[in-house]
Amino acid sequence: MALRVAVIGCGGIGNTHGPIYLKDSLAELVGYCDIIPEKADKSAERDGVKRWYSVQEMLSDVGDSLDAVSVCTAGAENGGDHYKPTMECLAADKHVLCEKPISNNIEHAREMVATAERRGLYLGVNLNHRFTPPGLTAKKWMDEGRLGSPLLLNMTMWINNPNETSPWFHIRALHPHSLDIVRYYCGPVKKVHAFFNRSPKEDGPDGKRVCWSNVQVNLLFENDVVGHLTGSYDANPAHNLERCEVMGTEGRFVLENCFEELTFYPRRTNELTVIRNSIMGGMTGFGQTFEKRIHRWLEQLTEKTPREDIDASGRDGLAVQEIIEAAIASWEGDCVVSVRG
Ligand SMILES: NC(=O)c1ccc[n+]([C@@H]2O[C@H](COP(=O)([O-])OP(=O)(O)OC[C@H]3O[C@@H](n4cnc5c(N)ncnc54)[C@H](O)[C@@H]3O)[C@@H](O)[C@H]2O)c1
Repeated sequence: MALRVAVIGCGGIGNTHGPIYLKDSLAELVGYCDIIPEKADKSAERDGVKRWYSVQEMLSDVGDSLDAVSVCTAGAENGGDHYKPTMECLAADKHVLCEKPISNNIEHAREMVATAERRGLYLGVNLNHRFTPPGLTAKKWMDEGRLGSPLLLNMTMWINNPNETSPWFHIRALHPHSLDIVRYYCGPVKKVHAFFNRSPKEDGPDGKRVCWSNVQVNLLFENDVVGHLTGSYDANPAHNLERCEVMGTEGRFVLENCFEELTFYPRRTNELTVIRNSIMGGMTGFGQTFEKRIHRWLEQLTEKTPREDIDASGRDGLAVQEIIEAAIASWEGDCVVSVRG
């Protein structure tokens, strides 16, 4: 039986989740909720479903029959508003797929994860970049030992975002994605050391952006892999959004732009394996990472996958925020910082 779901927050991203649920046979979209009535009305009318103007109104109306929600609010650093609706829905025993960052407030993120665990509910985070066929192939190569023992990682993610909401907007809002990819391939991070800078801006307070818009982070993983993250809000993602390279004792892979091209460079022969996104049946664009991620969430809920095994879980969403807070502490304290596990 299809899972009955609702979408909370009707901005661009809520309006991405909703139509995906409508098309997915594992879900039945029940309605949209937004504290701005016109936004809830518009989405609901377009898709022919219910609309509510608060989470409490939604829960009183359909709380008995609803299985899960997508929390697509935003707020400070794109994550400040996720806590309240997530906690309200968890209190009503609903499973929650939360947009990233799980929260920009680390205490809230910890509480969200602990609450879902205590109540035996599924909590997922939309860390959608890893949900691509070549991304899964690279993971399979690692699990099968094709790279040998992992040794090194390089990750780059950069986009153009001129918004200036806070000094830590860039790392807290964008790098849940990049750090999820690095953890996906190389596991938990134990120590970080970070340097940041702010790009020039004519009308900035001191001729620079408020936001630390560029970052370089050194990462030491629990399995002794040494890695590096390059991030920016001052680049054009149309040229290149992201690149992930992992090297082991038997070779390395490079994954370009989530799904564009995956190459394996073996250590002991010169023959490459190249997997290019097919123009016939391959991914048609970045938007499909949302479809694939949401389908996986529905699949794992339907199959009742053990909560600790779900992909891109609340715990994964929390783990990347812990790395981010350690990177900020490293820059502020001019030191190497251990990541809270
Ligand atoms: N996964 C990705 O690739 C990706 C890409 C872009 C953005 N995002 C994330 O998606 C989220 C939403 O982004 P957006 O651009 O759609 O934001 P937005 O600000 O356009 O929309 C958020 C909506 O939530 C509503 N809202 C706030 N609090 C609410 C509450 N308590 N109950 C009901 N509605 C409430 C607001 O009124 C607003 O309409 C952000 O967290 C952002 O980081 C993810």
